[in-house]
Amino acid sequence: MKVLGIETSCDDTSVALFDSDRGVTANLVSSQVDLHGRFGGVVPELASRAHLVNLLPLVDVLLKEQDLELRELDGVAVTAGPGLIGALLVGLSTGKALCMAADLPLVGIHHIEGHILANGLTGEMVTPAVVLVVSGGHTEVIHMPGIGRYERMGATLDDAAGEAFDKTAKLLGLPYPGGPPIDRLAGKGTPGRFSFPRPLHQDPRIVFSFSGLKTAVGLTVAGLPRPLSEQDVADVCCELQNAIVDSLCQRLFQAAERKRVKAVYLAGGVAANGGLRCEVARLAEARGMHFVPPQSVYCTDNAAMIAYAGFHHLQAGRRDGLDLDSFARAPLASWR
Ligand code: KG4
Ligand code: ZN
Repeated sequence: MKVLGIETSCDDTSVALFDSDRGVTANLVSSQVDLHGRFGGVVPELASRAHLVNLLPLVDVLLKEQDLELRELDGVAVTAGPGLIGALLVGLSTGKALCMAADLPLVGIHHIEGHILANGLTGEMVTPAVVLVVSGGHTEVIHMPGIGRYERMGATLDDAAGEAFDKTAKLLGLPYPGGPPIDRLAGKGTPGRFSFPRPLHQDPRIVFSFSGLKTAVGLTVAGLPRPLSEQDVADVCCELQNAIVDSLCQRLFQAAERKRVKAVYLAGGVAANGGLRCEVARLAEARGMHFVPPQSVYCTDNAAMIAYAGFHHLQAGRRDGLDLDSFARAPLASWR
């Protein structure tokens, strides 16, 4: 089965092809980082317009590269939400038009399910599992008894983990998105020079809070001599990352133990973080739990994860009509 995936929920325009015999044969991402970088965050209207300009040419390139006609596909999977509504509508309308033109089945995919199933592109997923979803817009823990079945165990009360990286990077004068530079600099920092809070540490619920980190980092940075030295910035990054990773790991393993699962997974852009991957691997091994980090290229937004999720939906006989709507917010629901 050959499934075309389309992802336009935020600032990356991406198309991909998943072939059930060969795996991902194409995953094209047109990044808008340069477009939004100077604003320090994504500007929704600019994102929609850039998707409109980039999406169809990317589909064309993919089909040419793969030497495929549209009608040779077995279906189109497109992110229906959550995300920026204007950006999503560009992907959804394009997906519908392609399906109508070539009489193909259409499936709408929840972006978070795409991130979770991206783990299946690295190796067969072991279930039941508990998944930590950490991206620019989401931080939640999901119990996954099997593919297509999801139960949210808890989430952040304020900022997402990715937002914590992005907002504190801005305070430190680092480029957007902030996760990758903080990840890189954290390795050069001196652990223990600063101390940042681990909020809700004693709370028995599966909850996170990251909004206080921005204030803590702001106060620390304000007390340092200007201009900040490279070592100062690296030391702040190191402890900031440690604080975020500690909070995330505490809840992930608390949830895994509560559900008595033998496997844990990471999903979303922050799953690319080196510190988080190492710590989850260490803690999983100590508990005899299965954990394989997802390939970095499938952590941040990409259409391969949407095509692969679409393959599971289509294989199970699920289809959407041309009346399928996009949505800005909605929890991930089970479909199996
Ligand atoms: O999943 P994603 O590409 O988009 C959303 O659905 O939000 O996640 C983007 C987020 C950004 O906040 C970015 O700073 C963060 O993922 N990110 C990272 C790393 N790479 C991307 N955070 C920490 N370490 C990284 N290496
Ligand atoms: Zn995402």
